[in-house]
Amino acid sequence: MTAFEYSPQPTRVVFGADAAAALPREAERLGLSRLLLLSTPGQSELARRAARDLGSRVVGHFDEAVMHTPVTVSNQAADQARDLGADALVSVGGGSTTGLGKAVARRTGLPHIVVPTTYAGSEMTPILGETEGGRKTTLRDASLLPETVIYDVGLTRSLPVGVTVASAMNAMAHAVEALYAADRNPVTDMLAVDAIDRFSNALPALVGDPGNLDARADALRAAWACGICLGQVSMGLHHKLCHVLGGTFGLPHAKTHAAILPHATAFNEQAVPELLAPVAEILGGASAGAALHEFGARLGAPTALRSLGLPKDAIVEAARVATENAYANPRGVDQDSIAGLLERAWAGDPPAGTAEEGYFTERNSARIVTARNEATNVRLGQVMEAITRHLHGAVKEIEPTQDEWMQAIQFLTKTGHACNDWRQEFILLSDVLGVSMLVDAINNRKPTGASESTVLGPFHVDGAPELEMGADICLDQKGEPMLVRGRILDTAGKPVNGAKIDVWQANDEGFYDVQQKGFQPEFNLRGVFRTGDDGQYWFRGVKPKNYPIPDDGPVGQLLKKLGRHPYRPAHLHYIIEAAGYEALITHIFDPDDPYIHSDAVFGVKESLLASFRLIEDADAVEQSGLSGPFYLVEHDFVLAPTR
Ligand code: BEZ
Ligand code: FE
Repeated sequence: MTAFEYSPQPTRVVFGADAAAALPREAERLGLSRLLLLSTPGQSELARRAARDLGSRVVGHFDEAVMHTPVTVSNQAADQARDLGADALVSVGGGSTTGLGKAVARRTGLPHIVVPTTYAGSEMTPILGETEGGRKTTLRDASLLPETVIYDVGLTRSLPVGVTVASAMNAMAHAVEALYAADRNPVTDMLAVDAIDRFSNALPALVGDPGNLDARADALRAAWACGICLGQVSMGLHHKLCHVLGGTFGLPHAKTHAAILPHATAFNEQAVPELLAPVAEILGGASAGAALHEFGARLGAPTALRSLGLPKDAIVEAARVATENAYANPRGVDQDSIAGLLERAWAGDPPAGTAEEGYFTERNSARIVTARNEATNVRLGQVMEAITRHLHGAVKEIEPTQDEWMQAIQFLTKTGHACNDWRQEFILLSDVLGVSMLVDAINNRKPTGASESTVLGPFHVDGAPELEMGADICLDQKGEPMLVRGRILDTAGKPVNGAKIDVWQANDEGFYDVQQKGFQPEFNLRGVFRTGDDGQYWFRGVKPKNYPIPDDGPVGQLLKKLGRHPYRPAHLHYIIEAAGYEALITHIFDPDDPYIHSDAVFGVKESLLASFRLIEDADAVEQSGLSGPFYLVEHDFVLAPTR
């Protein structure tokens, strides 16, 4: 039996995608009509946006919140609240702003609504740390709990990836320390595990796509749970170390949490391995400390105090300050062992006792390989860590026989042998696996309204002739005539002058000129055009046909075995370049092509479907200057400004 005590906290919580819209309702519920808005200078705009629906109920805005809650700033804000006759405070921001709100609420007795924009968790705690004359004092009092906390997932979407990760590691530290806190209870146990689980999925997703609303919702919900843990139970060694490194040595709060957490966890794990086992289980690692270290490294979180600005000779002093007073921790601390811990954290080494010292096993396979790497290039280290981890993961899932593994090696060997100066079978492999499109998507996230990109493909040729607008790029008169026209615009809808448009297409049998040298004229169905003031472009060609990607090599055999066809739907290729804009590499597609929903290389995007209309009307034909019926293809392109 485990005895425990549990006191629920009174703070009301409103959680949702656009939860800040509930601010007027909350003000009404609490009978408030004169609110003072608090933020940092950097989040001043964001705070106004969050509080927009409060209208004239906002009577003032104090936007000078800073880190460490200096008493002078809190006094100024409290004076402003009194001068304005404010009847409540609304804090919009991270830990600094929430801290200021608590400090002002304490001085004025005003009710406090918090809209957190990071994962710090301070909004759920009755704790206030204030600084005066370089000294930090911490106060714990139930009156510091805000009346209402509004978690608006939408507001967290713009949190940069680096801040997201560091702030989430800070939150995870609350959950990890709650797992072994002497005063933990069944509620904090559940919330801590749930929060670590949610972060373990949400954070990798957010690193890939910071705007992912579902992952943002999970991360914010995890942060709320971590905040409750922080408010409910005593924190141990980890928080003590971060407090000392932040307070005495000026290290940045969240990043310091990220760097210290694996080390403090590994240290305490020696005493309470069973209490920390859920961390290793959720994150996947041999131990909680190792799992947190790998998780942080994988997310690009800071792992070395050295890179956060801690001088090496500060370690001994930091260890002394962190051990001079007793505090709750599952393992006893002494200056030497804490200095050892800090030395590893300073250098960014894996926590003590977690580096692989043994031999290769099935269980530790990926880790033992990556632990040996000491890449001189940070990016290479990151890349090889991820590739090794995923490759070992795939092999563990598939459990290939020796023969099957040999077949895989032979397939790659054949793919290599199929490459020469004109043919790149590995790119084709990446194309049919959708990886080319994925890399393209990651590198071409466009602002709303800008045209989407797609694969370049292997058939672009430099040096195509620059032609007069309206020229015919079909040099052999074979195929059904086509007139292509449209405009090059910017995201505001203004025409782009001087845009260079490089187009190329396959002929009516689905072949490019370079595939039929000596049969098609050189530079057949290729041309370069330049727009004028009106951004208009138009040229003539022939209606393109669908065609198979080169399928006489190992990639073609793979497609066959997978029951996939090698066809690409009919399309026109474009590279559009203009000064001040991102280059756009894309296609337009014939929406009526039979392969439009099954492009072998996944290049089709809905926004790239053009209109292909057969024009037969004699007047329209005459007006076009063509001699008979033709296909009219119309498509505008919108260029994104240079980043
Ligand atoms: C192309 O459209 O030219 C292409 C793209 C990817 C693979 C093969 C061909
Ligand atoms: Fe093509």
